[in-house]
Amino acid sequence: MKLLVTGGAGYVGSVCAARLVEAGHEVVVVDDLSTGHADAVPDGCKFVEADIAAAAGELLAEPFDGVLHFAAKSLVGESMQDPQKYWQGNVVTSLRLLDAMREHGTPRLVFSSTAATYGEPDVTPITEDAATRPTNTYGATKLAIDHAITSYATAHGIAAASLRYFNVAGAHGAFGERHTVETHLIPIVLQVALGQREQVQIFGEDWPTADGTCIRDYVHVTDLADAHLLALENTVAGQHRIYNLGNGTGFTVKQVIDACRRVTGHPIPAEVAPRRAGDPATLVASSQRARDELGWQPQRADLEVIVRDAWEFTQQRRGS
Ligand code: UFG
Repeated sequence: MKLLVTGGAGYVGSVCAARLVEAGHEVVVVDDLSTGHADAVPDGCKFVEADIAAAAGELLAEPFDGVLHFAAKSLVGESMQDPQKYWQGNVVTSLRLLDAMREHGTPRLVFSSTAATYGEPDVTPITEDAATRPTNTYGATKLAIDHAITSYATAHGIAAASLRYFNVAGAHGAFGERHTVETHLIPIVLQVALGQREQVQIFGEDWPTADGTCIRDYVHVTDLADAHLLALENTVAGQHRIYNLGNGTGFTVKQVIDACRRVTGHPIPAEVAPRRAGDPATLVASSQRARDELGWQPQRADLEVIVRDAWEFTQQRRGS
């Protein structure tokens, strides 16, 4: 297929673009490089540096078989301080993209959604039927886009899938997480192991969990990418399907830090800090629907494998 990948210079987008090229697809990446890196765009992709809202119409005037839409602002804390950046950058840009798809008859869309659309869950593991009550602007903007996709898919016959990621981690060879402002647990812990930070802060030890720290469901970025390829092949015209992507197993913050200690051999000092605003205690996915309907089978679900791949990537980057 000929595919347009928005945000293909970012973490998840670059890994998916690499997997698409490996699978023999023709890939055009569009990215404004506001948070991505030009050298993260995989070999074999055509790269267009552009603002997606402005360029979507022109890009899709050329026939494409589908769009994979990753480009987004994705910092929860920032989304609460600067909502305009999220409503404009996520929702308005996505509407422009949907309009360009409608205008030019682009048949397929796979969208990068998030567990943040659910907010604080009533039941664990979280299924796609759970109530959507986002607790932050980031999640609210992704949910708004999901609603828009449903309308466009139904009215205009687009075959669409939204993939709701839980905690994405790990790396795919030379493609991994390189945020300028790092807020995610595993890369922060690995920065301590590399000597770039003195210690990691554990945000709260008084949560209602076995060791008092928050539980999350970590999913390997390569497995996540594979789900995108499966979603692309299995979308149905006029339908919008939603799939949660996680491994169905939760790990506490302390368990993650211990896994990083085992993988890196570094003591990784940690101190307990106050809770971080907006964090739910436990987020674990049910991905049964993705397994049943897409045939998704995560290959790298083991937490140590996820951490080891992230660690190899982090060390390579330091050496480069
Ligand atoms: N944490 C720490 N110390 C840190 C960083 C994180 O204790 O220095 C804790 C957090 O409090 C949380 C866990 O580690 O309990 C994981 O935090 P991350 O920031 O790595 O990830 P989140 O679960 O907050 O967020 C992820 C995605 C978001 C998405 C959300 C969906 O990064 O984009 O899942 O729930 F919105």
